[in-house]
Amino acid sequence: MRNLIDITDLSVDEINELIEVGKDIKQNKEKYFGKCKGKQLATLFFEPSTRTRLSFESAMLSLGGSVLGFSSAASSSTAKGESIADTIKTVSSYVDIIAMRHPQEGAATIAAKATKVPIINAGDGSNRHPTQTLTDLMTIKSEKNRLSNFTIGMCGDLKYGRTVHSLVAALSRYENINYIFISPKELKMPQEVLDILKGKNIKFEEVENLEENIGKLDILYMTRVQKERFADEKEYERLKDVYILDMQKLKNAKQDLSILHPLPRVNEISEDVDNDTRACYFKQVENGKYIRMALILKLLNIAKK
Ligand code: NCD
Repeated sequence: MRNLIDITDLSVDEINELIEVGKDIKQNKEKYFGKCKGKQLATLFFEPSTRTRLSFESAMLSLGGSVLGFSSAASSSTAKGESIADTIKTVSSYVDIIAMRHPQEGAATIAAKATKVPIINAGDGSNRHPTQTLTDLMTIKSEKNRLSNFTIGMCGDLKYGRTVHSLVAALSRYENINYIFISPKELKMPQEVLDILKGKNIKFEEVENLEENIGKLDILYMTRVQKERFADEKEYERLKDVYILDMQKLKNAKQDLSILHPLPRVNEISEDVDNDTRACYFKQVENGKYIRMALILKLLNIAKK
């Protein structure tokens, strides 16, 4: 039995295979219908979500399985004071696999210890979000036809954004990637994530200015300032619009730049960028469903062929 708590729970070969299966599902959807007949997925979301929860549900339904769950802590017994472990033990007696999102860092690890049913971490606080990373990697592979030899800029809230933490952990295992971390001082990449790179002698730069650095990038990964993680609302208000990517800023960018964003977007990408051929964030949304289909098949040990 396998869980996906951290992206490094998967080997590089397994990630590459998931991407290939995800691409095959995208091309040959009908081939996969019915593969999860009789299987049930629970989506337990103690935090808001649109894409992650609905893509998991859509993925399982497209595989012929069924789904149940809740979309807020308020509608579960958590509101009565039930522990994560007890909720998970309960749900795992109903279903075959669980995708869970929780505001507490480490919640998915607690859940995995409480059950033998595979647990997928769909985001734990500001810690990790491995299935978003699979989505991001599938998109980069589709756009660039490689997962090595490029310069990636990660821009915005690098402190609280769990997607960039998982993405760095994943990319650190591929070759010859340059990292430019673009954030205000207050929202820098956590030391623990930088240490992953330092431990492998991988170079990175930390800068504050997007415009001055955009021209160097092959991939620009924009992120939302994570309002819900700020203790001080005034601090959020001060920082929330620090980066806004618009057509003006893109003037200095490469023609084959790929712009990614896990979404939801607030203000950090102007809507007129959506029509630019370099915008990939709605392609990411689509890929997210297919790679989650591939992941469900893998964790349930269901043969693809
Ligand atoms: C991200 C998340 O939940 O961390 N959203 C997502 O899953 N696509 C990013 C965010 O909320 O900013």
